[in-house]
Amino acid sequence: MNDDSLVALARQAALAAYAPYSRFSVGCAIESVDGEVALGSNMENACYRLGVCAEIAALTAAKQVFGLDRIARIAVTGGHVGADGTLAGEALVTSCGGCRQSILEAAQVAGRDLEVISANGDGTEVAMHRISMLLPLGFGPDNLKDAGS
Ligand code: THU
Repeated sequence: MNDDSLVALARQAALAAYAPYSRFSVGCAIESVDGEVALGSNMENACYRLGVCAEIAALTAAKQVFGLDRIARIAVTGGHVGADGTLAGEALVTSCGGCRQSILEAAQVAGRDLEVISANGDGTEVAMHRISMLLPLGFGPDNLKDAGS
């Protein structure tokens, strides 16, 4: 699948967000090495700090659908749902720090420096970064090699 198609799926996923507090709907689409796709969107809570990011929701779905080890690429977008029912927004959505940490976990399980495609809500701007660029010097499962057994 090309970048535009994966971003289109992420924009679609954002429409299913439950974001009544921030009114910022985020969608994430994760593609496997075989072209399967898992989707997620953010889910907020009246106890604000319990909200879940779209990337975490999508990683959880990816684990169910094809496994973290088969993840190839991740697309993220976000903004507001416009009057026409589509996602809108100018700024690129780059994953928050916590999500970068979870993506690094999947990347090290997969043994791939995962591509993270960040798009704006409108879907008109896209940038690709590897997780190693988004979270340099990160701490992941590979860093636990020296733990005792
Ligand atoms: N959000 C995500 O889902 N992913 C990110 O990487 C950044 C932020 C959500 C959390 C919250 O529901 C809303 O966007 C506003 O921060």
